[in-house]
Amino acid sequence: MKLCVALDLPTKEENLELVYKLKDYDVWLKVGFRSYIRDGKDFLDSIKKINPNFKIFLDLKLYDIPNTMADAAESIMGLGVDMFNVHASSGKKAMKEVMKRLEKYDKRPIVLAVTALTSFTNEEFSEIYTDNITTKANQFAKDANESGLDGVVCSAFESKAIKDITSQNFMTLTPGIRPFGEDAGDQKRVADISYAKNAMVDFIVVGRPIYQSKTPDEVVKKILAKF
Ligand code: C5P
Repeated sequence: MKLCVALDLPTKEENLELVYKLKDYDVWLKVGFRSYIRDGKDFLDSIKKINPNFKIFLDLKLYDIPNTMADAAESIMGLGVDMFNVHASSGKKAMKEVMKRLEKYDKRPIVLAVTALTSFTNEEFSEIYTDNITTKANQFAKDANESGLDGVVCSAFESKAIKDITSQNFMTLTPGIRPFGEDAGDQKRVADISYAKNAMVDFIVVGRPIYQSKTPDEVVKKILAKF
């Protein structure tokens, strides 16, 4: 299992300060909408400057028509990130097109598909997708697997079943992790580290419990000790 730290702080400087504090740890860093829209590729380059071994997950959750998604995936290739994601609800055609477009590169990032956002309750999810989270997340995972993606973003509660219906090598990345029972915030389906470990999760994403702490490096150390 790998730890992916969400860089969701209000400014580039604060994010880089956090990255600097984590420079000696074997962690992935997740760059989402907030940072990427504001700070762009410069920010990604600044991270790699602090430690070139940091792996970057660009969490932009692409969702558009197939050709536009494939174009965007190709632009992402130029950023030098190690992982990015698309929405599984964009459909198999779009996901396949993305993977096809990346075929010509010798080395490409890991590509994941978002199944259900971890902030959804079952009720909220069903209002949009007219099905329950478990059924639909499994279906989305199957679609992503059949489209050639490497894995999915899901909650820790879906990880095991998804691997059973796809393959044990099909990766799961789970946000909504509260390592030691911290406040859930807006996350609805939260799990702790032991749960994620038992569910064979490949990557856990932790944001607020780390970046809101006065000693984020200590929290990271404590989390890694549990792996
Ligand atoms: O602060 P917290 O640990 O809840 O952060 C979780 C991170 O994971 C946030 O950056 C959020 O955007 C992201 N995320 C999520 N649920 C998904 C996909 C990404 O919470 N399904």
